[in-house]
Amino acid sequence: MVIGHYSDHWVLPTDQYILQIMRVLSGIQPSGQLHLGNYFGSIKPNVEMAAKADQSFYFVVDLHALTTLHDPKLLKTYREDAVLDILACGLDPLKTVLWYQSAVSEHTELLWILSTVSPMGLLERAVSYKEKVEKGVSATVGLFTYPVLMAADILLYQADVVPVGKDQKQHVEIARDIGGKFNHAFGKTFVLPEPQIRADVAVVPGTDGQKMSKSYGNIIPIFGEESAIKKAIMGIKTDSKGANDPKDPKACIIYQIHALFLNESEAKALAEEYRNGLAYGDAKKKLFATYMDVFTPMREKRAALKQDLAGVSEILADGAKRASKEAQKTMEKVRKAVGLR
Ligand code: ADP
Ligand code: TRP
Repeated sequence: MVIGHYSDHWVLPTDQYILQIMRVLSGIQPSGQLHLGNYFGSIKPNVEMAAKADQSFYFVVDLHALTTLHDPKLLKTYREDAVLDILACGLDPLKTVLWYQSAVSEHTELLWILSTVSPMGLLERAVSYKEKVEKGVSATVGLFTYPVLMAADILLYQADVVPVGKDQKQHVEIARDIGGKFNHAFGKTFVLPEPQIRADVAVVPGTDGQKMSKSYGNIIPIFGEESAIKKAIMGIKTDSKGANDPKDPKACIIYQIHALFLNESEAKALAEEYRNGLAYGDAKKKLFATYMDVFTPMREKRAALKQDLAGVSEILADGAKRASKEAQKTMEKVRKAVGLR
């Protein structure tokens, strides 16, 4: 697909824009059990974007995870889970290059070189560092230079577009700034990436109505036991309206979650049922049925992948090989540019 490149948005081709090949890249944190918020907020848009792009790269950021996770067993489990999740949710590994960040050592080599052109002030302004430290994460050098490793991840593959959630926009802008500093100092070496913010993705509410998040204990899992999914859905908070009372769908968490699965006319029809007095218990049963309809094929696929870990390793090894090839091309340019070759 050829599309136009304009401001910080990607748009369909028109005569006004320069046409170019779109290379999309994104990374995912291996952070435990996938929930509905992650699915609609991150996995689904990334899988769709990867399918549309001319070239796509997707990796599990196990090196970044080390900034907050010092438990070798858990890290291994989480990163394998992340790969199984993303494959089960439809990422096509033939099309998209999929690998563990740590399998391509150029990420860390470029991290070092970029750190020598990264202004301290730029990193000191990074919001996520301050937020994490406030939440009690150790203020290590690695946590501080997290955005430089992310810049290396992006610049190494000469990515044009980096689709991320709003919380990561600043990191992509930092990557752009660092790439710009390098290009200025040593000549044009890197494509400067554009963040693509998923502005249209609403915050998925959790079972208590706050943002769904592992840290709030309000998640509905995707790949957990069916009984855990049912329990979470049946536990969604509601008000005290009687079974047959009319209900305002927009004010109801069950509806807000259910609507994520529906097209406009389906959502309208469901809203009408709420206004006509659908009982909360029945509304939850309907949501559970939809949930299982949508996720059962993915749950089955994940179970099959789990039975074929050798096959999954092959996908990752192939991905690392393909990623390495690209990374080495860029690193040769970088080494020459700075005088190491
Ligand atoms: P958690 O808050 O459960 O720890 P993460 O921070 O690991 O989730 O989320 C990974 C990505 O999933 C985020 O960058 C964001 O894009 C997306 N995401 C997480 N929770 C939600 C949510 N409730 N609504 C929309 N997107 C979400
Ligand atoms: N920091 C990102 C997150 O927490 C993950 C990430 C690391 C990433 N490197 C990346 C995302 C490169 C996009 C591109 O979600």
